[in-house]
Amino acid sequence: MFITLEGPEGSGKTTAVEAAVKALQEKGYEIVRTREPGGTPIAEEIRNVILDKKNTAMDPRTEALLYAASRRQHLVEKVWPALKEGKIVICDRYLDSSLAYQGGARGLGVENVLNINLFATENTWPDLTLLFDIKPEEGLKRIASNANREVNRLDLEKLDFHHKVRDTFLELAKRYPERFVIIDASKSKEEVAKNTLDTILNRLCK
Ligand code: TMP
Repeated sequence: MFITLEGPEGSGKTTAVEAAVKALQEKGYEIVRTREPGGTPIAEEIRNVILDKKNTAMDPRTEALLYAASRRQHLVEKVWPALKEGKIVICDRYLDSSLAYQGGARGLGVENVLNINLFATENTWPDLTLLFDIKPEEGLKRIASNANREVNRLDLEKLDFHHKVRDTFLELAKRYPERFVIIDASKSKEEVAKNTLDTILNRLCK
């Protein structure tokens, strides 16, 4: 099973899933936790180029292609082999982030970005996508108050950009209702963690 975690900045998806991973492992499930962009040495190198705050001259299509390249490498080296071995792969961000950030917010168009990603992923879709939904104002406030979180090039975008990201995620959830589940990330940490685990268990039992 391939599970992806999506959401605007500061949605708390990484923290929320930690408890769920522990509980699933205790139940005997083999979990591979990973993230995008990155997750393998080559893909992490691409991540550094994309997110480097110095790279303000990066063209939007270059950005979309680099995300797709990093995704491809990560699939080949990590995701596909783990899925083949019957493991559960839980990945922070995947294709929907490209559709929301590059397609929606950067204005490249969701269909254009989808096309390069279908090439990159050979149509590999998640079985379940958890969308940690939060208003951009709230998410960005959380990031600002978290001294441990490094601010990246995309965090520095204006509020309007982050609104477009959220709106596109919500549109994608409507477009793909069979794999999307929306989690209200404005709730308490405990509630969000419980909803995350319940949603995953529910899908595993289907
Ligand atoms: P992270 O902060 O969740 O590690 O994600 C890194 C940044 O990259 C975040 O600002 C979202 C952005 N991103 C895209 O713009 N497109 C993508 O395809 C992915 C995977 C991430």
